[in-house]
Amino acid sequence: MVMNDKANESLIYKTKSGREIEYTPKHREFLDATRGEYTNLEAISNYVDSASTLVSGGYENISSDVKQDARDVEWNMSLWAYSHRFAHACTMVEILKQAPIKRKFKKMLDLGCGYGVQPAVLRGIGIAEEAYGIDIVDRASALRSDKLKKLHRKMRYLRFVDSYIEKLEDKEPEELSPLQRVIAKKIQTPRQTVYRSSGIVLPQSIYNYKMVAEPKLDGFWEMDIFKHEGQYDLITAFSCVEWFESNELFKKISQLLVPGGIFYMYVANWWGGNSAVRANGPIPYALQRLDGEDRDQYVDDFFPGSVEQVHNLYEYYDPGQPTFKNYVESGFASGMVPVAHQMAASPLKYSQKRGISTFGYAIDDHARFREALSDIQTVRPDVGPADLVSNMTYLAFMRVDENARATSDTYDKALKDVNLHYRATSAFGRLARKVGMKILFK
Ligand SMILES: C[S@@+](CC[C@H](N)C(=O)[O-])C[C@H]1O[C@@H](n2cnc3c(N)ncnc32)[C@H](O)[C@@H]1O
Repeated sequence: MVMNDKANESLIYKTKSGREIEYTPKHREFLDATRGEYTNLEAISNYVDSASTLVSGGYENISSDVKQDARDVEWNMSLWAYSHRFAHACTMVEILKQAPIKRKFKKMLDLGCGYGVQPAVLRGIGIAEEAYGIDIVDRASALRSDKLKKLHRKMRYLRFVDSYIEKLEDKEPEELSPLQRVIAKKIQTPRQTVYRSSGIVLPQSIYNYKMVAEPKLDGFWEMDIFKHEGQYDLITAFSCVEWFESNELFKKISQLLVPGGIFYMYVANWWGGNSAVRANGPIPYALQRLDGEDRDQYVDDFFPGSVEQVHNLYEYYDPGQPTFKNYVESGFASGMVPVAHQMAASPLKYSQKRGISTFGYAIDDHARFREALSDIQTVRPDVGPADLVSNMTYLAFMRVDENARATSDTYDKALKDVNLHYRATSAFGRLARKVGMKILFK
């Protein structure tokens, strides 16, 4: 039920259970006009259906036909698809630079590896000596390292247009010529892919990576991670943690890591960036804050032509999904200490194109954003503002020995490595130090 308040152009929506929520109808128009890649609700609904087959299914429920089809697929990856995955591998390298940890690994496992491009790339560019993949569906057997090397060479040519496109990004659309507009829209470099989806600016130096080793998998397992045994010093999960119950998964990952090993994950943030949220309608965070008959009524009131698809989408939405804090705690409870993280959001113009505009709400409509947050917190107190304003979560953990206790030996040993003053031991070193000190401090 809708009550008009013309004076300030806002309306009041009365939910079935009698709550009153104020909103701006213009917001709906804006979302509809900017929904970008998801131009119709049926498309989102179909997408969610296919994605949730895995979520609800699990290993035993995927038909053998689906699995056979995946194995038989001719590996024919586009330059864009490669650049996109290469960029995610580079993002990991950048995020790990924030952490006080080593940067090279001996043996890595990529969970839910799909085609296995990221682990193959990380091996190829020298980050991991050996790379393994695991997935319940085998697409990775189709990976061809010669094709990957070719795509990598092609991708590196994008460096010539990258800084030009970056300059175009800073301009207002009306300042661009028609040709510039086409270039900015059509050419997606790896850096732009990451920037547009999560606002992270990767350095230009990512183009310097050459394939110094064969970009391949040393092994692949078509199996459920919970049945897998092994020891790794790096485990990665690119966009797949959402298919699992995180407490259970993190425990398993911790068992597969050697002490000091790293677990890196990147996941679409459920509260701010999952696909169902894109069919939001006019009330800020409607899907996240309404439930039961209130939500059903809302769908009937605001999506008259597409009631079935939107119900289907909303059904997929799971209010029990982890928040950022939950991920950190699940890791911690499994003996993994968080060492680096980033909660990221697409720059405004891209998040608006996707019709999510997560931090758009928090900025443009702050009072209603706070109201939405407190509504959500009545059901899930652990959802924080950062969960609602970001659409991607990047997190790195280090596996520690849970029973470790520092003794005086620990400190003695550590002190041996901590040499804050340079003391030259050779005659030449002493001379160099003396001359250096004179030049610097005379
Ligand atoms: C969104 S895809 C990501 C693929 C790949 N990491 C990439 O970035 O291209 C998620 C993957 O997780 C896999 N997956 C889901 N449940 C799994 C399980 N229990 N064990 C292993 N892999 C699983 C799916 O088969 C799917 O390939």
